[in-house]
Amino acid sequence: MAKKLFIQTYGCQMNVYDSARMADVLAPHGFTLAPTVGDADMVILNTCHIREKASEKVYSELGRLRMLREERKTAGRDLVIAVGGCVAQAEGEEMTRRAPFLDIVFGPQTYHRLPELVSSALHARARGSSGAGLVLTEFPAEAKFDSLPEATTASGPSAFLSVQEGCDKFCTFCVVPYTRGAEYSRPVSAILEEARGLVARGAIEITLLGQNVNAFHGEGADGRAWPLGRLVRALADIDGVRRIRYTTSHPRDMDDDLIAAHGEVPALMPYLHLPVQSGSDAVLHAMNRRYTATDYLAVIGKLRRARPDIALASDFIVGFPGETDRDFEATLALARAAGFAQAYAFKYSARPGTPAAALADAIPEDVKSERLSALQDALAELSLAFNRASVGRTLPVLLDKRGRRPGQLGGRSPYMQAVHVSAPPGSAPSGAETPVRITNAFAHSVEGVVAAEVAA
Ligand code: 5AD
Ligand code: SF4
Repeated sequence: MAKKLFIQTYGCQMNVYDSARMADVLAPHGFTLAPTVGDADMVILNTCHIREKASEKVYSELGRLRMLREERKTAGRDLVIAVGGCVAQAEGEEMTRRAPFLDIVFGPQTYHRLPELVSSALHARARGSSGAGLVLTEFPAEAKFDSLPEATTASGPSAFLSVQEGCDKFCTFCVVPYTRGAEYSRPVSAILEEARGLVARGAIEITLLGQNVNAFHGEGADGRAWPLGRLVRALADIDGVRRIRYTTSHPRDMDDDLIAAHGEVPALMPYLHLPVQSGSDAVLHAMNRRYTATDYLAVIGKLRRARPDIALASDFIVGFPGETDRDFEATLALARAAGFAQAYAFKYSARPGTPAAALADAIPEDVKSERLSALQDALAELSLAFNRASVGRTLPVLLDKRGRRPGQLGGRSPYMQAVHVSAPPGSAPSGAETPVRITNAFAHSVEGVVAAEVAA
């Protein structure tokens, strides 16, 4: 029987990828995607556990879904409610206690088994259960990727491809090693095959995903572990692949070959997200990042020698336990020294089960807020400076969406800048790289005109 599925995705790009693969897994079982929750027979919340705020959202959304199910009862229509992703992994059984009306709770490593879970949940619901309460959060021995069907969801011009999952770095603040498990790299042949499929379905840009993507060491046809630089070079050889990106990376895994690839592979975009987290050596040590501020600046120095125009992006955490005013000053200094084109700053939030959650010297909320806004101001100045330097340049922009205002199209420059282009009314996003002359810069986007129009 045809059924409608709605997937609500929270968090990182890996979750966006996973959601698409969940749709692929359920498609052969009669599920097609619904545009809204209202149209759906089954809802999956694909959740994020990285910070407290992200996790809390899930329970409020579950409350709404429960009401929706109640409202439908009179019409004799049902709703299967499932929670996947990292909150599901971290909380497991606990979720079904807090939300007993839940039908399915499944972790990121088990979604290839969704069809059997859904079928059991449907049977339970048909028997009148108020919540099937099925929980599947193990880390199975068989690799999930081996059991997934071929990706069939329309990819669009810009596609994600998961190449690596999990993390063995154990930064003391981070839940990823617990929710996503040990580091695993997919075999090169499977990645190249998926990339060819994406190109066949219209992709010209491929973003390689992994929680620690530059720790990639997938097995190649030669039986050897390929580092990420080698994979990037092989992907660049596929006809039709015009743009390659990868995210997100750890500074310690930026090896010389990968850095060299930034200078040698034209399809590898001049942009890198390389989270630094803090500019203080004491805090970096307490975070178990295993580099100093000087080490970090040395890595980005090498990257700039290989690719002088590279745009660097980063993540910061403010208010890590014990962070002093001086530590925070060091963070501001590093941000300026690095000249980030883009960066995200977050207030530290203690995550259950992580080593940092047990640390003393918590930073008061008001101090965290002050530091966050000071850092965000500094970062906005840096990104504005970066964006201003593009004004007057003509950049190839992948126009793949409608812009913010009517008559605008949107896309990304090679440097990952969000670009808004004014277009004649009714224009559709071309999904192609289009030369755009940048005319105006803001902190988080730029504006431009299609270069052919300028010439005309
Ligand atoms: N508190 C605040 N920010 C965090 N991040 C990861 N864990 C935490 C935490 N416990 C941030 C890091 C990471 C980004 C994805 O989220 O900056 O790079
Ligand atoms: Fe988390 Fe990234 Fe550290 Fe891994 S490297 S533990 S994913 S912050």
